[in-house]
Amino acid sequence: MAMKIVSLFLLFIFQFRLSLSGQMSSMESVPDLQKSMYMVVDGFPCVRLVNLSGEIGCSNPGRDKVVAPIIKYKNTTELAQPSAILLSMDDVQGFFSRISNDSSFARNVGGVLVESGVEIQHKLKGFSPAQKFPQAEFSPYHNTTYEWNPIGSGIMWKSYNFPVFLLSESSTSTLQEIAMKNEKTERAYTTNVAEFDVVMQTTKVGTHDSESCLKEETCLPLGGYSRKKMSFANRSDVYSYGDITILLRGGMLRGGSVWSALPPIDRLSSNQSKPIILAVASMDAQSFFRDKSLGADSPISGMISLLAAVDALSHVDGLDDLNRQLVFLVFTGEAWGYLGSRRFLLELDQQSDAVHGLKSTLMHLVMEIGSTGRGLNQGNKTFFAHTEVSSASNETLDALKLAQESLKSDGVTISTANSSNPGVPPSSMMAFLRKNSSTSGIVLEDFDTIFANKFYHSHLDDSANINSSAIVAAASLVARTLYVLASDNKNLTSSALSAINVNASLVEELISCMLDCNPGLSCELVKSYISTTNTCPNHYVGVVLGEPSSTPHPNQVDDISRFVWNFLADRTSTPKGDTSVCSQDCGKKGGVCIRAETDGKGVCVISTTRYVPAYSTRLKFDSGTWQLLPPNSSDPMGMLDPVWTESNWNTIGLRVYTVQDAAYDRLVLLGGITVTVLAYLAILLTRAYITKALKQD
Ligand SMILES: *[C@@H]1O[C@H](CO)[C@@H](O)[C@H](O)[C@H]1NC(C)=O
Ligand SMILES: *[C@@H]1O[C@H](CO)[C@@H](O)[C@H](O)[C@H]1NC(C)=O
Ligand SMILES: *[C@@H]1O[C@H](CO)[C@@H](O)[C@H](O)[C@H]1NC(C)=O
Ligand SMILES: *[C@@H]1O[C@H](CO)[C@@H](O)[C@H](O)[C@H]1NC(C)=O
Ligand SMILES: *[C@@H]1O[C@H](CO)[C@@H](O)[C@H](O)[C@H]1NC(C)=O
Ligand SMILES: *[C@@H]1O[C@H](CO)[C@@H](O)[C@H](O)[C@H]1NC(C)=O
Ligand SMILES: *[C@@H]1O[C@H](CO)[C@@H](O)[C@H](O)[C@H]1NC(C)=O
Ligand SMILES: *[C@@H]1O[C@H](CO)[C@@H](O)[C@H](O)[C@H]1NC(C)=O
Ligand SMILES: *[C@@H]1O[C@H](CO)[C@@H](O)[C@H](O)[C@H]1NC(C)=O
Ligand SMILES: *[C@@H]1O[C@H](CO)[C@@H](O)[C@H](O)[C@H]1NC(C)=O
Ligand SMILES: *[C@@H]1O[C@H](CO)[C@@H](O)[C@H](O)[C@H]1NC(C)=O
Ligand SMILES: *[C@@H]1O[C@H](CO)[C@@H](O)[C@H](O)[C@H]1NC(C)=O
Repeated sequence: MAMKIVSLFLLFIFQFRLSLSGQMSSMESVPDLQKSMYMVVDGFPCVRLVNLSGEIGCSNPGRDKVVAPIIKYKNTTELAQPSAILLSMDDVQGFFSRISNDSSFARNVGGVLVESGVEIQHKLKGFSPAQKFPQAEFSPYHNTTYEWNPIGSGIMWKSYNFPVFLLSESSTSTLQEIAMKNEKTERAYTTNVAEFDVVMQTTKVGTHDSESCLKEETCLPLGGYSRKKMSFANRSDVYSYGDITILLRGGMLRGGSVWSALPPIDRLSSNQSKPIILAVASMDAQSFFRDKSLGADSPISGMISLLAAVDALSHVDGLDDLNRQLVFLVFTGEAWGYLGSRRFLLELDQQSDAVHGLKSTLMHLVMEIGSTGRGLNQGNKTFFAHTEVSSASNETLDALKLAQESLKSDGVTISTANSSNPGVPPSSMMAFLRKNSSTSGIVLEDFDTIFANKFYHSHLDDSANINSSAIVAAASLVARTLYVLASDNKNLTSSALSAINVNASLVEELISCMLDCNPGLSCELVKSYISTTNTCPNHYVGVVLGEPSSTPHPNQVDDISRFVWNFLADRTSTPKGDTSVCSQDCGKKGGVCIRAETDGKGVCVISTTRYVPAYSTRLKFDSGTWQLLPPNSSDPMGMLDPVWTESNWNTIGLRVYTVQDAAYDRLVLLGGITVTVLAYLAILLTRAYITKALKQD
């Protein structure tokens, strides 16, 4: 009997060594061991954002990590214990409405993992976590019950006390397997769990509104513009989690809005007195998942249309002789309370350095290019002009008609939007109209009464959601319309217009640089202007670090803003083909230094292209911290400003591993104790036996 136990024990040791030596070859250190135990999960988190009156977004409930077994969600699922729920895109809507309705279910949600898939857009009817009337509080008209975005569920504007991750495609299939394994082996002694580390500083410290979190420095304001200042825990692209690296895309550097004049405004004379035609687009998008905000249709298609139109106009001769001044403006921060346009209008009032050469009294009209990527209807490209009636808007409509006539052979049509619409759709124009209700303006969109984009402000608004020929058509329309408006000449010849042509391959290239990961920001076009660290583009606005300035150092500005700045400066520069190397007095001569990052020297070109910071007009950076300014009745939009901030965090992590059931652990412990006791008895018996035997000898 005793011999049997001892041999069993030996066999156990031997097997243990055998199984260890099997893995010895690949495992040489503790990190290796950790790697084999914990699995890196690639994902995009939803984070906590805070405004003056409350919070939205996601956070761990307390100061600790959440560990919960992974289960696959079905709409009939009941939760008996806190669980990590694997959710398919089809179920997202149903899940979140259940959360708000069923509190016992909501209590047991430990965390959520949302699956992603290829070409999921075709399978879904639509998905938009935004409101039905995005940013309705800023609208210049009163009918805020109008639904521009009927599909919008508003789920991203609520607060969740559990972490939510969007999985990458590869981690989706892995986690599906794991969830299936958990399901099959429901009574087994091991289970696979997800460990969420989305501990937010604002939750930890208990600062649940912008005013208190800015005071305690647990959050930073949203906006474009940033300085590297490491006074708080590092945020960076790649987080280290022990020895496991969590990939978190998105950077810490964010740019500002960019404006550029064509032809350049002579900085020295500051005598520019031509009426200004402003062409406006936005470069920031929004989504439930911070670092997966592509916004292909809304608003990046409009920005690409504008950039391609600028390129087309830059090849036209005689721009100096036009009667009006063209100014291009690409805003950032528009998705978060029109930060870019409101700050721009404030700087214009203050006549700050950032807008030197522009005057609000010279502003003749504003033409905004909204979404254009879905303006394709069975081969015809159809766009809609949304406007408030005024004589200058009529002039713009006439110019658009003239441009349309010249593009008839390409199947481009422009219509005025339905007169039963309450007013312009959500756009920067709202900020202009709230500022001065007699501003003449027009918003060009690919929709009439409701958004054509079924994925507004979601991670699914990617390059599969748009068609480049619609963007090319919109760019042609914009370029020719701007030329008609700027020349202010009633009998333009059609040959003058047909000479303005958009480069379709430039549009294709911009789409692949701005909206795809391959080649993404490492494409030739972007690389010819700037050097980038990330390749996957992301158009989330980011946070403002430190004091905003109108002349930032390039390494303080994010990739997209820097690219737009370089591109506009290059295309609007005179004379063409200038290759003088940058020197100290480039700026003194009215020049700017482009392509400075690519070769370290750069080219000095004559151009009026500037950054304008984009952050809340209720904030001021003062001696190292952000101060909330009291509401100012002379700034009615500022009084509505929710002052959005993003909570700080140390690391964000998600990993998956196997744990043993506690009951099984106890069983093993009991077994171990039994073996020990038996072994002890065996030793006693053997010793007694041997002693006896020796004595007998
Ligand atoms: C600020 O956040 C709260 C909390 O979610 C929300 O109810 C409110 O509408 C937000 N304010 C604005 C202006 O968006
Ligand atoms: C659950 O989903 C199934 C099919 O997906 C559907 O037929 C059923 O009505 C749903 N049940 C509830 C309660 O939503
Ligand atoms: C929420 O619950 C109420 C009553 O239990 C029910 O009438 C309603 O349809 C539910 N809403 C959703 C979105 O499930
Ligand atoms: C707002 O617009 C909707 C849709 O056009 C309309 O049904 C509703 O009557 C309008 N409300 C007001 C107050 O004008
Ligand atoms: C921040 O990052 C820098 C460089 O990677 C490092 O030297 C520094 O220790 C980090 N600070 C904190 C607080 O982690
Ligand atoms: C301003 O414009 C006027 C008329 O166009 C011109 O005579 C004058 O020289 C200009 N001033 C400067 C400083 O360029
Ligand atoms: C496309 O445009 C042509 C010419 O304007 C028109 O005849 C045709 O009906 C349009 N097709 C659709 C589907 O709107
Ligand atoms: C604009 O045009 C419309 C129709 O073409 C006309 O009825 C209206 O009076 C015009 N408005 C102005 C301010 O010129
Ligand atoms: C304008 O919108 C109204 C209400 O949405 C609709 O009944 C009407 O047919 C639309 N008119 C046109 C010309 O599309
Ligand atoms: C508003 O705009 C109109 C037309 O551009 C202009 O005449 C007026 O002076 C502006 N009002 C203010 C307060 O700036
Ligand atoms: C864009 O639409 C055209 C015409 O419908 C089609 O031929 C083309 O394949 C589409 N392109 C993309 C990228 O979907
Ligand atoms: C229109 O063109 C005719 C002939 O080319 C020219 O005489 C006339 O001055 C032009 N009118 C305007 C307003 O430019």
